[in-house]
Amino acid sequence: MSNPSLLILAGDGIGPEVMDQVQRIIGWFGDKRGLKFDVSEDLVGGAAYDKHGVPLHDDTMAKAQEVDAVLLGAVGGPKYDDLDFSVKPERGLLRLRKEMDLFANLRPAQCFDALADFSSLKTDIVSGLDIMIVRELTSGVYFGEPRGIFEEGNERVGINTQRYTESEIERGARAAFELAMKRDKRLCSMEKANVMESGILWREVVNEVAKHYPEVEVSHMYADNGAMQLVRAPKQFDVIYTDNLFGDILSDCAAMLTGSLGMLPSASLGAPMDNGRPKALYEPVHGSAPDIAGEGKANPCACVLSFAMALRYSFNEGAEADRLEAAVEKVLADGVRTGDLMQADGGTPVSTSEMGDALLAALDASL
Ligand code: IPM
Ligand code: MG
Repeated sequence: MSNPSLLILAGDGIGPEVMDQVQRIIGWFGDKRGLKFDVSEDLVGGAAYDKHGVPLHDDTMAKAQEVDAVLLGAVGGPKYDDLDFSVKPERGLLRLRKEMDLFANLRPAQCFDALADFSSLKTDIVSGLDIMIVRELTSGVYFGEPRGIFEEGNERVGINTQRYTESEIERGARAAFELAMKRDKRLCSMEKANVMESGILWREVVNEVAKHYPEVEVSHMYADNGAMQLVRAPKQFDVIYTDNLFGDILSDCAAMLTGSLGMLPSASLGAPMDNGRPKALYEPVHGSAPDIAGEGKANPCACVLSFAMALRYSFNEGAEADRLEAAVEKVLADGVRTGDLMQADGGTPVSTSEMGDALLAALDASL
């Protein structure tokens, strides 16, 4: 049987340098655990625009549809700010999400013990935090029609449309309930049913799906209250299920609870392929961080942890995912820190590749 295939799209900014460390870790699993992957690489975002004039080439899109999983670094940067909207780096990522139909975006926000006092919230509010945000990723206002900037009388009007079908809400809800079943069996759905019809439908459909999961305790919250509760008492949540735009905002909010965006992975999953694996793309939650790109300062942990999610959700290697997550935890507990994880008085930060070295050493020690 051939090895499972991975397509690496390192992208822009710090994407390539954090992905270099992930490549070393993929190599480690091949050498030491007999988990070999066929890895290919291609361009996305500004890097693809520079070469092809588009943020995602059709050939790359076709490859992404074929492989067992895509690993993405980051897209975007100030160099591309003035590009036409249709070819901005972000459009490459959004095309991947849409055409691969990656409707369930899993964004865990976990507070590592070693970083608990690094959060902008008080330590006791975040220590032990472990939430999973499931964001609907292929619909809603990100993709709804009509959209555009139009002339109306003597002025322009900007239009985007929040649109959700029952089946879109339902399939994401099922993914969220399935996760809740494997966790603490609590699910909080967030929308704005007080002002949006799409929110009313959202709530109804979630309640329908809930009937199939009687063990899961379901609650509903308006998304603005959800944002407040996330910073007031985040540990009240287990799984949060929400739409594309609210999920974008709430997941940044949840991410910051953990101290650094540099630690957070994500998985975007679609329907099962012929081989039973879900269509999947894994990427760190952080962006391309142009201010530090190319300087070897970036924290590779979020991207490394995204590969751990790939091991778990695409390759059914939960024990190896645990091993990699434990290596990250050990390195942090040992006090190894990239710049984003330094306190004001905190000693010398390690470089991106030194963090990679430490992770590999921790993996070796786990054998
Ligand atoms: C995210 C990002 C993207 C989004 C951008 C880069 C298009 O903010 O993944 O959260 O808005 O979905
Ligand atoms: Mg975002």
